[in-house]
Amino acid sequence: MRKKVTVIGAGNVGATTAQRIAERGYADVVLVDIIKGMPQGKALDLSEASPVLGVDTQITGSNSYAATRNSDIVVITSGIARRPGMSRDDLLATNMAIVEDVTTKVVQRSPKAVLIVVSNPLDAMCHVALTASGFPAKRVVGMAGILDTARYRSFIAEAVDVSVEDINAYVLGGHGDTMVPLASYTTVAGIPIGELLPKKEIDAIIDRARNGGAEIVGLLKTGSAFYAPSAAVAEMVDSILLDKKRILPCAAYLSGQYGIKNVYVGVPVKLGAGGIEQVMEIKLAADEKRALRRSAKAVEGLVKDMVRLRREAKS
Ligand code: APR
Repeated sequence: MRKKVTVIGAGNVGATTAQRIAERGYADVVLVDIIKGMPQGKALDLSEASPVLGVDTQITGSNSYAATRNSDIVVITSGIARRPGMSRDDLLATNMAIVEDVTTKVVQRSPKAVLIVVSNPLDAMCHVALTASGFPAKRVVGMAGILDTARYRSFIAEAVDVSVEDINAYVLGGHGDTMVPLASYTTVAGIPIGELLPKKEIDAIIDRARNGGAEIVGLLKTGSAFYAPSAAVAEMVDSILLDKKRILPCAAYLSGQYGIKNVYVGVPVKLGAGGIEQVMEIKLAADEKRALRRSAKAVEGLVKDMVRLRREAKS
């Protein structure tokens, strides 16, 4: 039987993700959105590209969940995106309700799926999906680190004037102002970045990567990034569906690793058929450890805010 990937939310990130996965040809794709006709229209358009691309992917668009039954992976992109002047955290109240609702509907039909959360604020939305699904933490993973790292890698490649393929790096921590780019793990074809760029320039690149999402929101004005986010999701889908066991920076629920417990934070993980098969604990410098813990604290703050918002909604 063919594998099935469901994408909830057929907006910019969702539709682009569906396109990237459909073009790979290894899984059928179901696209779900609340807007009548929109996921159906996008799915039909994507299907009509199949003969040109030579893929036999079945692509279904729907406003209900029946077609999502027995998905291997469900990507959650539903929610609102940032506009200029908004932080990811400004999306909290709206997106927590949406993510909770869609997760509940998805897991009823796909109890064995791996959930990839994309909606922002990412780390907090992972908590919502984990709680609403009742899944083991290894089957609820967030997309942020690959995107943040890709932004950082692309700026380094530009500064050093080499192929992006030769840049290895990690950006850990939360998907936001507290992300932690690791200069100590940044190499260009194995050469430490410090040997190729002055510290001032590395710091400027780190700063640009940290604000990479806001830079795009500022240019687009009506929404946020989607090409790079969908490329990052597709890399995660590849690793899970093809059981590649890639080591990729993703948001994972930690249970003591890096001295952090019961919170989602971006760390290197091994992604395979079972979802997160291992959280990789790499050696960090003291300041990097501190920055990662600070990042975890910021996520904990958002989780507390969600508890407060829920209480207020009830009273
Ligand atoms: N069920 C299904 N789809 C929903 C629901 C719901 N309950 N609520 C909203 N949506 C859909 C919207 O109708 C819209 O088509 O989610 C889609 C979101 O698409 P966009 O507005 O284009 O936003 P996008 O850029 O795709 O970002 C989606 O990903 O990167 C994050 O911060 C970003 O949280 C945002 C999410």
